[in-house]
Amino acid sequence: MTGRPAIAVLNGPNLNLLGRREPALYGTATLTDIENLCRRTATELGYDIDFRQTNHEGTLVDHIHEARDLARGIVINAAAYTHTSVAVRDALATVTAPVIEVHLTNVHTREPFRHVSYIAAVATGVLAGFGPAGYEYAVRHIAALDNPAAPHTRIEELHDAHHN
Ligand code: DQA
Repeated sequence: MTGRPAIAVLNGPNLNLLGRREPALYGTATLTDIENLCRRTATELGYDIDFRQTNHEGTLVDHIHEARDLARGIVINAAAYTHTSVAVRDALATVTAPVIEVHLTNVHTREPFRHVSYIAAVATGVLAGFGPAGYEYAVRHIAALDNPAAPHTRIEELHDAHHN
């Protein structure tokens, strides 16, 4: 423990095989590469990362419960449970901190069963199709929401720039 605030990054089933799993779809980055990317980004922003992966639905629920008490926000790639799990959705619905749903691939260009997300309706935002960078963007967004005074682009600023 470093005393820095934490952002939880939670991963669901089969993501432990990233890099070897259907690389044409999911790319060659491993989950450890993604963890390192998240840690590097978080460190730059003054946060710790609590990075987890599980292949089990109930364990993913447990990870959400732990993050709910400890983290300033949750980045979650629930993988296949995105499309099936009321339990994961109900766990996320109890979280008051921001929740960003992430998918490496653009699920909307894939099979119809992947177009349905049980968790999108309880998420703050959804990133799909950005590859590993989606995790980085999600970590940055949680830090920005946690630091409303920190410099980052706001819609109001864009609006002002346009009208000045
Ligand atoms: C995934 C997309 C899901 O449909 C799939 O079941 C996964 C990975 C993605 O990151 O693109 O396992 O969440």
